[in-house]
Amino acid sequence: MSFDVELKSVARHYGQVKAVDGVSFSAGPGEVVALVGHNGAGKTTLIKLMLGLARPTAGSVAVLGQDPAAGNASVRRRLGYLPETVSFNPALTGRETLRFYVRLKGGKPSEEDALLERIGLAHAADRRIGTYSKGMRQRLGLAQAMIGAPVVLLLDEPTTGLDPELRQQFYAIVREMQAQGTTVLLSSHALSELEGNASRVIILNEGRKIADGTLDELRHIARLPTKIRLKTCEGGAGRLREWIGKPAKLTQINGHIIEIDATPEDKAAFLRRATAEGAPFEDLEMVPPGLDELYAHFLAARTSK
Ligand SMILES: Nc1ncnc2c1ncn2[C@@H]1O[C@H](COP(=O)(O)OP(=O)(O)OP(=O)(O)O)[C@@H](O)[C@H]1O
Ligand SMILES: [Mg+2]
Repeated sequence: MSFDVELKSVARHYGQVKAVDGVSFSAGPGEVVALVGHNGAGKTTLIKLMLGLARPTAGSVAVLGQDPAAGNASVRRRLGYLPETVSFNPALTGRETLRFYVRLKGGKPSEEDALLERIGLAHAADRRIGTYSKGMRQRLGLAQAMIGAPVVLLLDEPTTGLDPELRQQFYAIVREMQAQGTTVLLSSHALSELEGNASRVIILNEGRKIADGTLDELRHIARLPTKIRLKTCEGGAGRLREWIGKPAKLTQINGHIIEIDATPEDKAAFLRRATAEGAPFEDLEMVPPGLDELYAHFLAARTSK
């Protein structure tokens, strides 16, 4: 398999600070890789290394088979980048701004109109950016990153400041790009939104990679319990507790809802028993561990080493 992005044992130190420390990973066409981690974990530095804006202190970075810091113009043209803080000239309109970037990047004439349509800003294209909301400016930033149909898209905290609906719209566009074979790398603090939107998650802490995999793989490695939420009739929680029995770790939420923490094996055994015995509950809901819990797990595992 050929990779669009390949990092091998990359380090980037700033004096004593190890912003990135021995990170390796690769990403291929159609992958959406999320870089997650606390403030200062090294996400932006990794993105800058992939853009060639920072040079590695050690190790190697290849983007589309080239060293991005070498300044190869054909590679640059095939990269799209949305910086952490987007700032545009407030006196220009959305269309003027995008046209400027289309020319700068050697995009197709009038490409700005198609992009404005695609990100849902056509109605405000001739308004000055000074009158745009934060979400509109963020979308304009995304349109700018999409000029020239990039093969690799690097998005630094693209959904910061977007409301839930705009986030969903944003991820719908990312999925379209993914379907066209674009390799997308994005950084995020909002872990929960990555469910269903990232094909892989890389967890960073103090410059180091502490986990890398699909959400399912990470869940499997972490072996975090699934929550089984059981609902019974009002006041029936006591009887339900008795039926569940002692060994299960359970939390009584109120008079009719109980939650059990179940390992994957417990879960199957519990369902078999419930079916066989006609369990005293009316409804059951399974809540698999979310990304936030996974993140906490890998961080704790790291710091206890
Ligand atoms: N140019 C620089 N000079 C000195 N230190 C830097 C430089 N760039 C980054 N750092 C340091 O490297 C570490 C990683 O920074 P980076 O910006 O990559 O983190 P981040 O994960 O993007 O954080 P955030 O979530 O706050 O955006 C931080 O400790 C930061 O202070
Ligand atoms: Mg950052």
